[in-house]
Amino acid sequence: MSERKSGQGMEQMWGEQIVKLRPEDADRGQLFNDGNYAMFIHWGPYSNLANEVDGKTYYGIGEWIMHPRMAGIPVDDYKQRAASFNPVRFDAEEIAQLAKDAGMKYIVITSKHHDGFAMYRSEADDFNIVDATPFGRDPMRELAAACKKVGIGFGFYYSHNQDWTFPGGGGGPETDAAGQAAGFDDYFKKKCLPQVEEITTQYGAIEIVWFDTPGKMPKEYVEQLIAVIRKNQPNALVSGRAGHDLGDYQTLGDMDVPMRNVHGMWESVDTSNDSWAYAWYDEYWKSPQEILRRLIACVGRGGTYMLNLGVRGDGSVPLRAARTLRAAGAWISRYPQVVYA
Ligand code: GLC
Repeated sequence: MSERKSGQGMEQMWGEQIVKLRPEDADRGQLFNDGNYAMFIHWGPYSNLANEVDGKTYYGIGEWIMHPRMAGIPVDDYKQRAASFNPVRFDAEEIAQLAKDAGMKYIVITSKHHDGFAMYRSEADDFNIVDATPFGRDPMRELAAACKKVGIGFGFYYSHNQDWTFPGGGGGPETDAAGQAAGFDDYFKKKCLPQVEEITTQYGAIEIVWFDTPGKMPKEYVEQLIAVIRKNQPNALVSGRAGHDLGDYQTLGDMDVPMRNVHGMWESVDTSNDSWAYAWYDEYWKSPQEILRRLIACVGRGGTYMLNLGVRGDGSVPLRAARTLRAAGAWISRYPQVVYA
């Protein structure tokens, strides 16, 4: 795990300077190291369910709705429900501008979560937003362009171990459509590795590839994925949840804002209410003061704070979340030296 670099090979940045720093001018990891504040976005067909299935509400983190721990939706049933996902209110520039106004330096968004649905046009699996829904557009391409336009970085969350709908994926089917046995190696070669190749070659410069829940994924698979990232995106960081300590920094536990100093490069991931994905009942939005307190607690201890926004199934942003992020951002714009560099 590399020690936190401040000043080594990077000109000393001060708050006001980092405000103007464009991603294309930043050193590797500088938006993480000096920006200190980012937007996480969880968004997928689970957002369309919003924790309710056939009139029954399941309380918990919404992106797990398919899992037996929540609604236990069978694969074919989930795929049918995903087919009605049509986020016509999605506005990439509105979201990128919100992150900018909030004072966040980059966005990390779910390209494929544990459910196996790709939020971009993937040739490796037709269970994706372009081929499997009436939406028919690639929102990741739109968001990557919008982030570049407003001058913030862009990165992808990718669930590399868990895949609940692809044969051989972690927690997924153990046979393929032909009834043949499918193991992790099948999933890895047919879907995981090609998709990491896709997300690191087709969306421009990537700040971070954010792997999650590595579980017992064998080390050699993680090493292959990281080799693809180093080849295609030499400036990108790999999250602390890659597995086998192969990430570029430490990612703390969910919603863990430390009350102690943490050594090295690290991030805390938190969410603006209590669910990563949008949940219809979860209106417990953190106040601007609470966001600032948690952000400054992280920055003060040398870390980066990535705060999540659950975009709705129709592609819109919950208004109260947008308001609270902007209110916190207004304070940061008055005191940039408190948060940046
Ligand atoms: C946990 C959850 C996952 C979520 C992540 C956010 O790993 O399994 O659903 O995306 O936390 O940090």
